[in-house]
Amino acid sequence: MTPTPGRKARREAYHKVDDEGDCEDPAPAPEGKAFVWLWPPGAADPVLAGRITETTGQHDNTPVCTFTYDDSFLERPDAVSLFTPELPLRSGVFDPTQPEGPPSRDPLSIASCLRDASPDAWGRRVLNSQIAGKATAVLSELTYLLAAGSDRIGALDVTTTPSAYTPQAAEQATLDQLVQACELIEIGKPVPAELRKGIRHLTGVGGAQPKALLVNGERSLIAKFPSITQARPALHAEAVAMLLAQRVGINVASVEMVPVEGRDVLLVERFDRPKAGTRHMMVSALTLLGYGELASRHATYPQLADTVRASFTHPADTLRELYTRMVFNICVGNSDDHLRNHAAFWDGYLLELTPAYDIAPSPRAGGPLSHALGITRDGRRASQLHLARAAAHDFELDDAEAAALIDRVTTRVRVDYDDVCDQARVSAADRKAMWGREFLNPYVEYGEP
Ligand SMILES: Nc1ncnc2c1ncn2[C@@H]1O[C@H](COP(=O)(O)OP(=O)(O)OP(=O)(O)O)[C@@H](O)[C@H]1O
Ligand SMILES: [Mg+2]
Repeated sequence: MTPTPGRKARREAYHKVDDEGDCEDPAPAPEGKAFVWLWPPGAADPVLAGRITETTGQHDNTPVCTFTYDDSFLERPDAVSLFTPELPLRSGVFDPTQPEGPPSRDPLSIASCLRDASPDAWGRRVLNSQIAGKATAVLSELTYLLAAGSDRIGALDVTTTPSAYTPQAAEQATLDQLVQACELIEIGKPVPAELRKGIRHLTGVGGAQPKALLVNGERSLIAKFPSITQARPALHAEAVAMLLAQRVGINVASVEMVPVEGRDVLLVERFDRPKAGTRHMMVSALTLLGYGELASRHATYPQLADTVRASFTHPADTLRELYTRMVFNICVGNSDDHLRNHAAFWDGYLLELTPAYDIAPSPRAGGPLSHALGITRDGRRASQLHLARAAAHDFELDDAEAAALIDRVTTRVRVDYDDVCDQARVSAADRKAMWGREFLNPYVEYGEP
């Protein structure tokens, strides 16, 4: 057996980039059209919901893609809108550059609830190397949507034909084969044929880190792999944060760290596959708030709280849960808490917060850290608990309730840290280094009045 290269050797290989990956024919996008299939709530089979048309118009230097519900879908008793604030259930063409309101939404090149079914940085990188032969290539949104595979996150699929649903099934691949394929893609090397059969596992899930979708018996999983670009034990820190979140009482995706051929891989239980064959519709918080990517830099947790108050089931409990997640993100330095790292289930009528995911402490040398999502309504984002205290009223909590909640979270993190490090297979040196740096960095207590 070939020995597995260590983290350092793999990082060195990353810098010897040879960007001539194998080429595949681009996925055909017939006449700039793609067909959207939806698993209605509780259904085991998808139905044709509508079509996406790539137009000659441009928005932000990107072709504009419109959406139209199919007449046959509108006549179905189980028809639901893909997301009512954006694509209400009615006939006609939806132009994303002319969003309807209220509430007001940013003009986009494609409806945000459709963009949620498309790959992000990691999946795009895989497709760029496989389709165009270069990780840095840029393909059309329609190509990404069509090539993402049929087990993608949420309850949509996108295909080239409206007549019958034909899934692009992923071929079987072992976890080790997927890890190897990811490493080759990260260093810009060609993926050999025997590993390429697993490529579809890599493209149906968003985010920037290397990962794959897996099915193991009844379990649908996301496998997150250690990136060879990172010297720090980022995946272990994420495992510790996710397990601590569960101990704190946050509703969070279950995770397990497993050794695979000398590396640790983080298995995350998918929450969008409730039972065999059925799928949960999901929208990112970016879609919920109606922001474009650039403008989303101004978004805040209190704005998310407003949407919860206005449109979610169980708003009081959800506000408390959201507040707890915000406090916890401060305690574990998860500053990458952007709007694609929060999501809601959508059943055509109501919204419900999904379990938390991607709670990943950010790299930091010293103290200061800023969150992607503002903590206070006026956009202050320093990773400090006094800002969370100042924002408590936006979550319907009084000062005493907020103080008790923060005290409970910090105590749990302190008490359970070692136990959770054991569970996450963290070495003694790494757990010592992460405490006070990633976890409960003294900066979280600075600036208290
Ligand atoms: N347990 C889960 N069940 C269903 N969908 C999930 C789950 N975890 C993550 N997702 C979806 O997969 C996407 C990517 O996952 P994740 O955010 O963990 O990846 P990442 O590469 O670490 O992201 P980032 O680019 O934010 O660092 C999320 O945006 C979300 O849509
Ligand atoms: Mg993410």
